[in-house]
Amino acid sequence: MTNIADMSRDALVVLERELSRDFELQKSNKLALDLTRGKPAPDQLALSAAMDDVLAGDFFAADGTDTRNYGGLRGLPEARALGAELLDTPVENVMCHGNSSLTLMYIVTETALRYGLWGDERRWAKASTVKVLTPVPGYDRHFTLCQSLGIEMINVPMTDSGPDMEEVNRLAALDDSIKAIWCVPKYANPTGCIYSDECVGELARLPATAAADDFVVFWDNAYAVHDFQFPRAPLASIANLAAEAGTADQIVMFASTSKITYAGAGLGFLATSATVLDVLEKRMSVFAIGPDKVNQLRHARFLNGRLEVHMARHAALLKPKFEMVEQTLRDGLGELDIACWTTPAGGYFVSLDTRPGLAKHIEQLAGETGLTLTPAGAPFPCGKDPEDRNLRIAPTYASLEDLSVAMSILVLCIKLSTVRQQLGLSS
Ligand SMILES: Cc1ncc(COP(=O)(O)O)c(C=O)c1O
Repeated sequence: MTNIADMSRDALVVLERELSRDFELQKSNKLALDLTRGKPAPDQLALSAAMDDVLAGDFFAADGTDTRNYGGLRGLPEARALGAELLDTPVENVMCHGNSSLTLMYIVTETALRYGLWGDERRWAKASTVKVLTPVPGYDRHFTLCQSLGIEMINVPMTDSGPDMEEVNRLAALDDSIKAIWCVPKYANPTGCIYSDECVGELARLPATAAADDFVVFWDNAYAVHDFQFPRAPLASIANLAAEAGTADQIVMFASTSKITYAGAGLGFLATSATVLDVLEKRMSVFAIGPDKVNQLRHARFLNGRLEVHMARHAALLKPKFEMVEQTLRDGLGELDIACWTTPAGGYFVSLDTRPGLAKHIEQLAGETGLTLTPAGAPFPCGKDPEDRNLRIAPTYASLEDLSVAMSILVLCIKLSTVRQQLGLSS
């Protein structure tokens, strides 16, 4: 098939008829396929089955702590060491708490807003409007979190090497109501890009040049070790760069084992300076006496010293799925010049851009065949993709067989929607 833009109207009409026939056939198959949320598949969860037996009745941590009892809000030293490895930062800067980094992000954002992160007078809520920079496409739950706290979001384009730093620097220097930026520095959700060394350096320096004196970089390193190839792809250490730039008090990092062990029963981590850690610990002591240290101990015993071996097993399960996505998109759309997509070397997502104005329609067509896609627009604040062209593909949970069918349907829906647009048909 040639480039759709070069086809005659007659040829397009014939093609539309063929594609519509295939589409009706797909609908009659009454499938139920799901490419929505980035969840680990059952075979990935099974990789951590041995964690169940690892304690074998020994609940005592290396320092003698009885993990079954209250206390230890910062987390067990051996669990914090795991967080330090994930976040490439000294262990004394790490807190391990709960099973979700997203919960920690909420706690930190709310603390910055209402109580301040530094034990001084600074708190975001003193400003009449509080805004954050949101590189797009990005992680939908960052946006929901901000929306729920009444924080406005300003979109900044993502590039292949991280957020557009010229725009970030310009905006942050201009407006002291801009208080933070959301970053997913490695295998970003959903584009899969890794921030370049230069970009990490600029982000480390950003709090020093921002107009707000309480500017914070939220460093959500959810996919720090989720490579498909080893040795792991490097990411510059923002902790080291921030120490050099004197901005360590204004960088907060997050990670978890949600996609290492169990998404519903893992460990959440945050890391920041001693000053901010003290403030957060005090704040958290209002609603927590201590974390689940039993879970921390079993994670540390299961993963410490063998993290890369464990992640290589995930990679062996995930790589074929991402290769299948790439292959199907290349075979089905490669020569048509109607879509472009990312080919990440790790993480959980592929980001696909259609022609403007088609993403919602493609989502709807897919839905009619029984294929559920992440709602078009989800990777943008308030679900609004200004160009209505981005689709997030989450290939991890489906089996390889289901994924293959789902991707063929997606390719069909993209072609059909594009041909109809080219013909000026509304649906
Ligand atoms: C970028 C990003 N951050 C955080 C999370 C959620 O992490 P957790 O399970 O630790 O709350 C996800 C889950 O998809 C994610 O993609």
